[in-house]
Amino acid sequence: MKDTNWIKAFAPATVANVSCGFDVFGFALHHPGDEVHVRLNDSGNVTITKITGDNNLLPHEAHLNTCGVAVQQFLQAVNLPYGAEINLHKKLPLGSGMGSSAASAVAALVAINHATGNKLSKKELLPFAMEAERIACGSAHADNVAPALLGGFVLIRDKETLDIINIPAPPELMAVVIHPHIEIKTSDARQALRKTLSLGDAVKQWGNTAGLVAGLMKEDYELIGRSLEDVVAEPVRAIFIPGYYNVKQVALQAGALGCGISGSGPSVFAYCRGEANAHAVASAMQAAFQEIHLKADSYISSINSDGARVLSSK
Ligand code: HSE
Repeated sequence: MKDTNWIKAFAPATVANVSCGFDVFGFALHHPGDEVHVRLNDSGNVTITKITGDNNLLPHEAHLNTCGVAVQQFLQAVNLPYGAEINLHKKLPLGSGMGSSAASAVAALVAINHATGNKLSKKELLPFAMEAERIACGSAHADNVAPALLGGFVLIRDKETLDIINIPAPPELMAVVIHPHIEIKTSDARQALRKTLSLGDAVKQWGNTAGLVAGLMKEDYELIGRSLEDVVAEPVRAIFIPGYYNVKQVALQAGALGCGISGSGPSVFAYCRGEANAHAVASAMQAAFQEIHLKADSYISSINSDGARVLSSK
């Protein structure tokens, strides 16, 4: 077989946990996102021949890189005798809490699935992306890969059976994500978590997870805001993010519905009602990081209901 055409695919940044839903909630942004180009060959091997935008930090060995692992897993599962060549264009910062490793894996899967005739549904690609997450951080959580792949606000009710539910979000809901320029490894942030919860904390947390789902479905913005409370991960992880509680306070003062750590951090997200408020909140949060001499990028997006997509196949 001659090398086939390059298939180019995009997968978006995601916010996992969404405060109260550790490992069970995540949603997709419209931008930024990673781009992965894949073409088939008959080498029987998966190779990564180019990576841009990573400051030479990511491994080129396919079995160590999330997009390589995902494609290897896919080709094995569909039992095709092909090899594949991958080019990865990182647009998401590494270790940012914006689902960077998930976006690479998901974009690669959408591209290889397209290249081989879309044999699997998007949902059927999930286990391969979860396996890639395991390589990246030691845990096969789905709260970044599921929304990156499927789009929308996603509830992972059970990751073993892949019972994944899309929760509709109200039309004026906007997400602000502020990325301060420090890096936190998800594996470290997970290691730091307490292994047990008090019953009181558990009751608070499941009240809020139910409240957030109800708020989204009833388009009750106040209820969404009240439910963005996290007594599980935030108290432990906030100390890794300089100025976190101040940034959260200024977000709320600027009118955010609620604010929390994006995934395992250091990015901080806020939900806002309407675009004007999102811009005000983003500026206030960015300024709060700047006050402590921490550069920070800001992203504003509604919820991306489409998820990963093929960009071109020429
Ligand atoms: N749920 C995961 C965590 C997301 O918080 O560790 C990591 O991006």
